[in-house]
Amino acid sequence: MDIRRIQDTDLENKKVLLRVDFNVAVENGKVKESFKIAAAKETLDYLLNKNCKVAMISHLGRPDGQVDPEFSLGQIVSDAQEILATHLEFVPDCVGGKVAEAVENMQGGALLLENVRFYAGDEANDAEFAKQLAENFDVFVQDAFSVSHRDQASVTGVAKVLPSCAGFRLLEEIHEMTIIKDHPIHPAVAIIGGAKIETKLPVIKFFEEKYDHILVGGKIANEALDQNIEFSDKVVLPIDFVDDRLDIGPETVAKFKEIIATAKTIAWNGPTGKFEDEKYAQSSNEILTAVIASGAFVLVGGGETLEILEKNNAMHEISFVSTGGGAMLDYLAGNRMPGIEALKD
Ligand code: 3PG
Repeated sequence: MDIRRIQDTDLENKKVLLRVDFNVAVENGKVKESFKIAAAKETLDYLLNKNCKVAMISHLGRPDGQVDPEFSLGQIVSDAQEILATHLEFVPDCVGGKVAEAVENMQGGALLLENVRFYAGDEANDAEFAKQLAENFDVFVQDAFSVSHRDQASVTGVAKVLPSCAGFRLLEEIHEMTIIKDHPIHPAVAIIGGAKIETKLPVIKFFEEKYDHILVGGKIANEALDQNIEFSDKVVLPIDFVDDRLDIGPETVAKFKEIIATAKTIAWNGPTGKFEDEKYAQSSNEILTAVIASGAFVLVGGGETLEILEKNNAMHEISFVSTGGGAMLDYLAGNRMPGIEALKD
């Protein structure tokens, strides 16, 4: 089953609803990470060159179906406009008359619609709500890999109502993830950190089958040790720690670095220590340096891992940085990806 691609879709002069993921960290009204917003630029520019009227739709945070100014996408419009180098008009709703009017009166640029999760119908994947989202548009373009593990109205629901296709960023993410998943060049090394062992176990299992070494750090390493979880010899757990296990210790870092230096493929998701406290960011920083020096094909994903890259100005030194956090883990664990399936014939 092939995915329907943007480049094969008739888009000239169409009214397009574009699913993006602008679920970014915001502090004092400023966007803290531009990466996920910039990821939408190629598709947006392509659509604007096709004379489309484009309305971008996204969620921000988890407002639980309630209107909550803390989660309004209105606060990121001026930053998003700068990052995308495109005039954006904010529409304080994502369905109904305000959207219809804004689409009708558009004079260049694009629209940014209000947080779709202000309506409970999004996460509930309500069919009626999906119809309302689709109402003012001819085509739906899904360009957000990072939400493609969600079965929600603005991801899958609307794809059933309108002719739909994948945007360039989504296609690129699927391409790179497939290399990491199905065709890694060996030796292949996975580095898995962060929290919640139950969500990371299926991914570790996947890597045990396909990769040569799996280096486990962060909170999940503590959880794995405490729960006496058994792994194959490929999985390397920490042998020492710093301060009450808040970071992995120097002997573990040395062992990890030795293995990383041999790698031809590296997949990394999750910090190896409590990196938000500089004191415990040491292992993550050292691992980043080793990963870059290895010369391997490197794919990095997950919001916290991206923060490590951004802090170290290393975004451009990584072969492919994924917008996906949970989506990357689900994809690699072989879980269903409804947001991708919905775009297949
Ligand atoms: C993410 O940040 O990983 C995506 O935006 C998905 O957000 P969600 O986990 O709230 O669905």
